[in-house]
Amino acid sequence: MSWIIGFFRSAMGKKAVMAVTGVMLFGFVLTHMVGNLKLYFGPEKINAYAEGLREIGAPLLSHGDALLIARLGLIAAVVLHIWAATSLTLVNRRARAQGYARKSPQAATYASRTMRYGGLIILAFVVYHLMHFTWGNVHGDFVPGDVYHNVVSGFQNPLISGFYILAQLALGLHLYHGLWSFMQTLGLNGPRLNALRQPFAATFTAIVVIGNISLPLSVLAGFVTLHG
Ligand code: HEM
Repeated sequence: MSWIIGFFRSAMGKKAVMAVTGVMLFGFVLTHMVGNLKLYFGPEKINAYAEGLREIGAPLLSHGDALLIARLGLIAAVVLHIWAATSLTLVNRRARAQGYARKSPQAATYASRTMRYGGLIILAFVVYHLMHFTWGNVHGDFVPGDVYHNVVSGFQNPLISGFYILAQLALGLHLYHGLWSFMQTLGLNGPRLNALRQPFAATFTAIVVIGNISLPLSVLAGFVTLHG
């Protein structure tokens, strides 16, 4: 038992928690983006998809159970990801306070600061996003169960679309650096793999960011309308 506690207390253990929860969250963001693209296939498809998510596991599980389990897993991943990030930051700060201040590499410090602020921006975005599309309490024209209507009418407001686009850019920076560090944590840093790290991180980041940003842009351009 004590070795488990020791592992989670060590920098190595915290990095492992960051990596595992980061992969879970990345998996969610990627599949969520793919699901969001159903908007292009009209109201029936995306609304049936949203309803279908609540039916996963039937008849073994009741309506919404699998979604509830996924939500609990997602919340646990977010909490652990933030815990590991915060405690690693504190460990680094303490180490620097003991005399490494001048030697701290500027690039690494800049990247970690960007990750911290970027993470906070993403967290704020997710809270707003849940109030907007899941609970509907900040949406002027929310129709429960009509995901297509809620997304299209929401994005018809240029200010809201602009906010979503900015948030996706913050998410992109975070994903890019996160995917890059993930490979470092796994020790994938031989000369050949080093050359692959940047294109790998950039490709996956671009897929998520371009897929998501295309939605508000398509609504604003009138390519996707309330009538499907
Ligand atoms: C343009 C981009 C996005 C669109 C159009 C979009 C759309 C939606 C919609 C319509 C819902 C409600 C689904 C339902 O009630 O069945 C939802 C839920 C959610 N979205 Fe997004 N989303 C986007 C980006 C993101 C991003 C970048 C994140 C995370 C960083 C995110 C996290 C979530 C979460 C956590 C939920 C709640 C899932 C649940 O428990 O039901 N979304 N999104």
